[in-house]
Amino acid sequence: MEIRPYQSRDEASVVALWNACGLIRPWNNPHRDIERKLTEQPELFLVGTEAGRVMATAMVGFDGHRGWVYYLAVDPAFRGQSHGKALMREAERLLIERGCPKINLLVRNTNTQVIAFYESLGYAQDEAVSLGRRLIPDLPAQAG
Ligand SMILES: CC(C)(COP(=O)(O)OP(=O)(O)OC[C@H]1O[C@@H](n2cnc3c(N)ncnc32)[C@H](O)[C@@H]1OP(=O)(O)O)[C@@H](O)C(=O)NCCC(=O)NCCS
Repeated sequence: MEIRPYQSRDEASVVALWNACGLIRPWNNPHRDIERKLTEQPELFLVGTEAGRVMATAMVGFDGHRGWVYYLAVDPAFRGQSHGKALMREAERLLIERGCPKINLLVRNTNTQVIAFYESLGYAQDEAVSLGRRLIPDLPAQAG
């Protein structure tokens, strides 16, 4: 797998990958999520390719205090080959390079089986509860 920053021509393949990986929720518009990421640290929006084809992603950011990873995805046909691990290690390298002391990430409570993956990479559950408040509804009828 080659890891490089997202390019605009990747949009359709990235959204198809997220759909195939079950990462899209009705209240999140993936096209808007991509558009917004391109306004902040676009170089930290990573795609993994095999033979030029997008088969993995990680949307990374540093907010000045913590690093965050969203949309970690590996195409089901390419799983179990350490590509997810390689993307997370690259995210860590890029964050350390920026002086970021800790990575946080959110796992949906419907996706708890992925916790074993993160634990195998040295991640541990924090003593914290995640709260959120939507500021801009992407789809007005389904603001969540
Ligand atoms: C999570 C995901 C990115 C892992 O990708 P992957 O390329 O298959 O993972 P890797 O091959 O790099 O696995 C790394 C390690 O985690 C372990 N692991 C991977 N998936 C696991 C699982 N479901 N349960 C337990 N361990 C797992 C592997 O055994 C491996 O350990 P090893 O290095 O000792 O062999 C992939 O399953 C995925 O895209 N899932 C759907 C999207 C998703 O849930 N993303 C996370 C949102 S929070």
